[in-house]
Amino acid sequence: MDEEKLEQLVHEADRVVPRPTPKEFFRKQPHKSLENISDYERLYKESIENPDGFFGKMAHKFLSWDRDFDKVSWGSFEQGDVAWFLGGKLNACYNCVDRHAFAHPDKPAIIFEADDEKESRILTFKDLLQQVCQVAELLASWGIKKGDIVAIYLPMTPEALIAMLACVRIGALHSCIFAGFSAGSIKERVFDAHSKVVITCDEGKRGGKITHAKQILNEALKECPEVEKVLVYKRTGNPKVEMVEGRDFWWQKECEQFRGYFPPVPVDSEDPLFILYTSGSTGTPKGVVHCTAGYLLGAAMTTRYVFDLQPEDTLFTAGDVGWITGHTYSLYGPLVLGVPTIVFEGTPAYPDMGRFWKIVEKYKATHFYVAPTALRMLKKSGEAEIDKYDLSSLRTLGSVGEPIASEIWKWYDEKIGHGCCHIADTYWQTESGSHLIAPLAGAVPTKPGAATLPFFGIDAVIIDPQTGKVLEGNDVEGVLAVRSPWPSMARTVYQCHQRFLNAYLRPYPGFYFTGDGAGRDHDGYYWIKGRVDDVVNVSGHRLSTGEIEAVLLESKKVSESAVVGIGDDLTGQAVIAAVQLKDSHLVHDAETMIALRKELRLLVRKVIGPFAAPKSIIIVDDLPKTRSGKIIRRILRKVCSGEAKSIGDTSTMANPHVIVNLVSEVEQQF
Ligand code: WT7
Repeated sequence: MDEEKLEQLVHEADRVVPRPTPKEFFRKQPHKSLENISDYERLYKESIENPDGFFGKMAHKFLSWDRDFDKVSWGSFEQGDVAWFLGGKLNACYNCVDRHAFAHPDKPAIIFEADDEKESRILTFKDLLQQVCQVAELLASWGIKKGDIVAIYLPMTPEALIAMLACVRIGALHSCIFAGFSAGSIKERVFDAHSKVVITCDEGKRGGKITHAKQILNEALKECPEVEKVLVYKRTGNPKVEMVEGRDFWWQKECEQFRGYFPPVPVDSEDPLFILYTSGSTGTPKGVVHCTAGYLLGAAMTTRYVFDLQPEDTLFTAGDVGWITGHTYSLYGPLVLGVPTIVFEGTPAYPDMGRFWKIVEKYKATHFYVAPTALRMLKKSGEAEIDKYDLSSLRTLGSVGEPIASEIWKWYDEKIGHGCCHIADTYWQTESGSHLIAPLAGAVPTKPGAATLPFFGIDAVIIDPQTGKVLEGNDVEGVLAVRSPWPSMARTVYQCHQRFLNAYLRPYPGFYFTGDGAGRDHDGYYWIKGRVDDVVNVSGHRLSTGEIEAVLLESKKVSESAVVGIGDDLTGQAVIAAVQLKDSHLVHDAETMIALRKELRLLVRKVIGPFAAPKSIIIVDDLPKTRSGKIIRRILRKVCSGEAKSIGDTSTMANPHVIVNLVSEVEQQF
């Protein structure tokens, strides 16, 4: 979203009156966990004033323990040694599967809606336990043990969730790699985590097309000598898929050998549960480490209180296990509460724009959770499909991943929720593990476009980036930080604690820094403005401009590159790259220019993934630079956003004349 729009959004806050939860919501709500704002205020106050008492109680309420913890919380942001529920032992898989299978074996756990509807199927908790145990025992037989990291490169299918649960059942960590990533990104992640085993499938199905998981993985593994075994789920059965003798094994065939019960391994609360790579402003992706008890509690509590997810409900998170949303709200959140989760393999546009709503109707989903980018697309071209379906089962509608403009919020509320649903704009991040700021269903009145109020235990603050001081009171704007540790926060970056400290705990000593700008309005409501670092958010996918720049530099034709994110109506932000060519590769004719742009876009697609490909590539003679030779991305961003007139001060530039050329290039391209 561009700055002007954001500004409008924040100013709008002054005029918006909080909307109480619609009466209809309460009619549909089977249990009344929270009924009004004073419920929220009372519990929030307790969570901040007495976090140990509050979270100790919650940890007993939501989780099953093999050994009770001795101490609720430990460590500080200053020391970077945060820990929760010390001395406790538990198993996340037991909490998500076994205990519910024992209580109600035939209750659906995973409702799988396949890309091709006919291939859909439902797994009960009993089925899930059996299948998870088989994979867990297989991994154990391969020598995978507590602390090992298993890479998972699977599309959104039950097998992805089964594989994740199988890892944590034996105390191993999963490292999910988004199925849209290409070989270069896979290699980087498998390599960094020293994974010895990778789990994948032969091919995937998405939007009526075949995706080539195994083929892409094969290419990546050429440069991953540490990988000993690959487990391959046969999804399409294409005989052309290449299997490497002695390394690759078929999931179905291997699992047949195991009876379907394998005991869970209790681990310490602070033993890591998984790692998930995410883009930062600098360097290679960071392997964010989440630990068992705190993460699981955050997932359980936010899913219950923000969404009001109850045992009778069905949650449809239209996310992907390749990202944190899929971890917390497709898998851990719903399953730890024993609630069926809808796993959708396909896209919102296939076979037509009514797919999401058809799924809601078919399974009577009570909860739907998606990124605004999908809503923008459906508002634009999928409206005609909505009224064909009965959406009256819905009670909570969630939004995640990027700011939701008030007009999209209202559209969601009216068109999908028919004014009867709780609308939850949930602000959080890979590193937070679960929601940081979001309206609690039934308790917190909402405002279109605002993430509203902090979750229990989140002591949110706005800091003035210039002075580093906390801005007290309301009607303030600055960067968003958190004053004290919360259970589900990431503990470290895999094998690089200094990176963790530098990115989150050192920028504002004593605080956790989110990387986002935000405002707090006169009601104390938070409005998220977007990243203040070099992270771009394209359709809810987090990308680092530095990473894309590095890929462009891999081309032997490019001498310098600068990547920026600019506002885009459909994808929220779009990636624009400016490149300077080496003297030996200068091009002058339009045709070669077009071919070169294509080639560079393809390079990014191949190395990172299709979703990272720049929307436009501008070829320039020279990039705007400071006298010390640093590229000034601010200027590039302004020009690309059509705001060349308001560039402001150019006195620090070494080459102000390049702006004219930049403007004309941009005008030709856009
Ligand atoms: C970044 C985190 C959270 C799961 C998916 C993305 C942006 C996230 C919102 C929201 C405004 C949001 C932030 C954040 N973001 N949710 N509701 N409103 N911005 O996780 O890939 O770790 O990205 O996404 O900039 O820092 P992620």
